[in-house]
Amino acid sequence: MVLYFSGTGNSRYVAKKIAEISGDEIISINQRLKAQDYSPVSSEKPLVFVGPVYAGRLPRIMDDYIRKVSFTGTKHAYFIGTCAQTPWVTVEYVEKLCKEKGFTLLGFHSVVMPQGYIAGGGTQPKEVNDRILKEAEPKILELAETIRDQQTLPKEQPGKAIMSKVLNPIMYAMMISAKGFAATEKCTGCGKCEARCPLNNVKLADGKPTWGKNCTHCMACIAGCPAEAIEYGKKTQGKTRYYLGDE
Ligand SMILES: Cc1cc2nc3c(=O)[nH]c(=O)nc-3n(C[C@H](O)[C@H](O)[C@H](O)COP(=O)(O)O)c2cc1C
Ligand code: SF4
Ligand code: SF4
Repeated sequence: MVLYFSGTGNSRYVAKKIAEISGDEIISINQRLKAQDYSPVSSEKPLVFVGPVYAGRLPRIMDDYIRKVSFTGTKHAYFIGTCAQTPWVTVEYVEKLCKEKGFTLLGFHSVVMPQGYIAGGGTQPKEVNDRILKEAEPKILELAETIRDQQTLPKEQPGKAIMSKVLNPIMYAMMISAKGFAATEKCTGCGKCEARCPLNNVKLADGKPTWGKNCTHCMACIAGCPAEAIEYGKKTQGKTRYYLGDE
C-alpha cells in the first residue's frame, strides 16, 4: 500500500509511479486528512510512505496521521522523502516513528525534486525545474523497482543534524502560519484553493478565499491557484509558482 502526502505534487507524482510499477494500491493522506478519516489501513504488501521533507523531517501532519492510524497486516515499511536539496537527518525521525509503530524499516530514501516552497525561498525558473524532474526519473524508477521486489533500499549518507533538530522547531514556531495569505483581484472564485487544502483551512466567503489558523505551509493553495491570484505578503509577488498536477 502506497500512502502519500503532497502539497505541490512532487510526492504525489513519486507515489503514483511507485504504485504503478509495484502494482500496489494508493491512498492520499491529503484526502484522508481533509475528511478527518483516521480509519485503519490494511495491507499485506509493505507500506510505502511518500511525503515532502519540511525542515529536515516529515511534515508534522503526516507524522501525526501515521501515529493515529492503526495499520494491520504487514509490519514492513518504506519511507521516501521528496526534497529540494537534502533531507538532512529525516531518517532519524523516520526510525523513531517506525519504532513507535512497531514497523520494520525497509529503507528511507530521498528524491530531489523541484523546490515548492514559494512562501519560503521561492522556486527556480521553469527550465531548471524541468531539468530536475528529468534527472529524478531514473532514481524514482530504481526505487520503485526495489520496492516492487521487496528489497531493502540503499542507505544514503545523512546530512547535517542542525536543520532537523534545531531549525525545524523554529520554523514551525516562527514561519508556518497562514497569516500572510491573501487573494488579489485576479481571483475568479473557482474554489480550487478550498478544495485542495488538506486541512480545510481555506474557505470561500462571497466567492473569495479566507484563511484560518490551521496551516502546515504545504503550498497547495498558493501554488495550485490557476489564476496566480494568491500572494503571501510581499514575498511572493512576481515570483514563479511551481505546481506539479492534481490528484
Ligand atoms: C515548509 C517546507 C519546508 C521545506 N524544507 C525542506 C528541507 O528541509 N530540505 C529540502 O531539501 N527541501 C525542503 N522543502 C522543499 C520540499 O521538500 C520539496 O519541494 C518537496 O518535493 C515538496 O513536495 P510536495 O510537492 O509533495 O509537497 C521544503 C518545502 C516546504 C514547503
Ligand atoms: S484557486 Fe485562485 S482563483 Fe480559484 S478561488 Fe482560490 S484564489 Fe481564487
Ligand atoms: S492553507 Fe494553503 S498552505 Fe496552508 S495547509 Fe491549506 S493549502 Fe496548505
